[in-house]
Amino acid sequence: MEKEVVLVLDFGGQYNQLIARRVRELAVYSEMVPFDISFDEVQAKKPAAVILTGGPASVHIEDAPACDPRIFSMGIPVLGICYGMQLIAYQLGAEVKASEFREYGRTQLNADGDDLLFKDVARQTQVWMSHGDSINSIPEGFTVTASTDNCPVAAMSNPTAKLYGVQFHPEVRHTIEGQTVLKNFLFEVCKLHGDWDLSDYIAETVQAIRDKVGDKKVLCGLSGGVDSSVAATMVHRAIGDQLICVYVDNGLMRKGETEQLIETFKEEMHMNLVLADAKERFLSKLAGVTEPEQKRKIIGEEFIRVFEAEAQKLGKIDYLVQGTIYPDVVESGTKTAHTIKSHHNVGGLPEDMQFELIEPLRLLFKDEVRVIGGKLGISEEIVWRQPFPGPGLGVRVLEEVTPEKVKILQDADYIVREEIKKAGLDREIWQAFAVLPPIKSVGVMGDGRTYAYPIIIRAVTSDDAMTAEWAQLPYELLDIMARRIVNEVRGVNRVAYDITSKPPGTIEWE
Ligand code: XMP
Repeated sequence: MEKEVVLVLDFGGQYNQLIARRVRELAVYSEMVPFDISFDEVQAKKPAAVILTGGPASVHIEDAPACDPRIFSMGIPVLGICYGMQLIAYQLGAEVKASEFREYGRTQLNADGDDLLFKDVARQTQVWMSHGDSINSIPEGFTVTASTDNCPVAAMSNPTAKLYGVQFHPEVRHTIEGQTVLKNFLFEVCKLHGDWDLSDYIAETVQAIRDKVGDKKVLCGLSGGVDSSVAATMVHRAIGDQLICVYVDNGLMRKGETEQLIETFKEEMHMNLVLADAKERFLSKLAGVTEPEQKRKIIGEEFIRVFEAEAQKLGKIDYLVQGTIYPDVVESGTKTAHTIKSHHNVGGLPEDMQFELIEPLRLLFKDEVRVIGGKLGISEEIVWRQPFPGPGLGVRVLEEVTPEKVKILQDADYIVREEIKKAGLDREIWQAFAVLPPIKSVGVMGDGRTYAYPIIIRAVTSDDAMTAEWAQLPYELLDIMARRIVNEVRGVNRVAYDITSKPPGTIEWE
């Protein structure tokens, strides 16, 4: 039987990946594609349903993003969210105009409980709104199924044509019954079965890797992060000792990381692990370089060069495993997403690369990767590790990277992570780490004047790293960290806490 697929057409809204994730949480496989995907491609994917996401545009602007309207008459259910709903209305001849009152944030929705989309949803329920335009009149055949004080058409449906729209964002947690709305769409409207199962995914992927690789040799860059660890373990399950993991010590890893990695993968899991000591190589390439994108490119390229050098020592290697996950693919690949930072494991790859890639997590979101890691028996410590950027501390020592600065940062970062863990916040906090800026300030210690670096503590909560809130850590905790850092880390005399969310900041500083 064909697997059920829901296509999510990406119109560039900031919550778009969440839509695909929420659908998968409901056990239905979803795939994100650019909004202007051709009709032939849509048909080729045989979707069971289509969801049109929100986006920053207005249907009235010139060249407003639009999908092929034939999608609306394919006979499969379509759900438009925010801009997606406005587009359905507009393309089917209704009137959309700038609202008198822009709605943004939590809003009370009055829902029609008889509509399939609102089955088991309270008549009055809190939703998350974020829109400037509103639908003024609905297309023929539709009925209005929900409204708010400022938005007379907050949802509409045409069950005969299987077309549905909601102005609010069901994918956002602030929409309290959002998951029920999505569930209703998938199971009441689309009548899907929910056949997306991560155990099946492991079995199928392991078999596919075996078939593809045959008796060839495979190299994996193991960084010890969740993604590369799970990717390596999955490939190891498929082909055992044909997999050789190379851990590149680029001198930009966190304190204690190398030791932990050797213990887990070499000693506990018995994988083939080669240690490439490339500290000096990276640091010398980075000497004098201050521009963040250039640093990222250098680090990305050096990774591959070190692999190549290791591979040459190992004889003929045909494949390289990478822990690329779905958000990397979507962020690097869709036309609507701007390149804000080049993620080294996708965008920064040199063009003359000599390996073919195996990317067993390419279709998965981070939370799915963690579930799979658990199913593969990887320790909780690694599976629940906070994300760590590919370029490592290279993007947290701001501007020029030197061995002295890396040491300062490693020591400070260790304290931040240790205290977060002691406070029991390490799972709740998406990422907590230290940043070393290229400035010095005056302080006083004992009887003497100091002139040393500050450390910036960065801690955020997030669902997917696309947006993030600065974490409201208890003052006592910040106080302990600040005292310990200044007392224990030589070269630091001041600690600051970054209270910027994303947007407008990014999580990393470079
Ligand atoms: P930003 O700084 O863009 O980071 O808000 C979002 C998330 O991505 C991580 N990050 C990276 N991960 N390679 C990676 O694998 C990279 O080059 C990279 N840069 C940033 C960052 O730690 C955060 O979780």
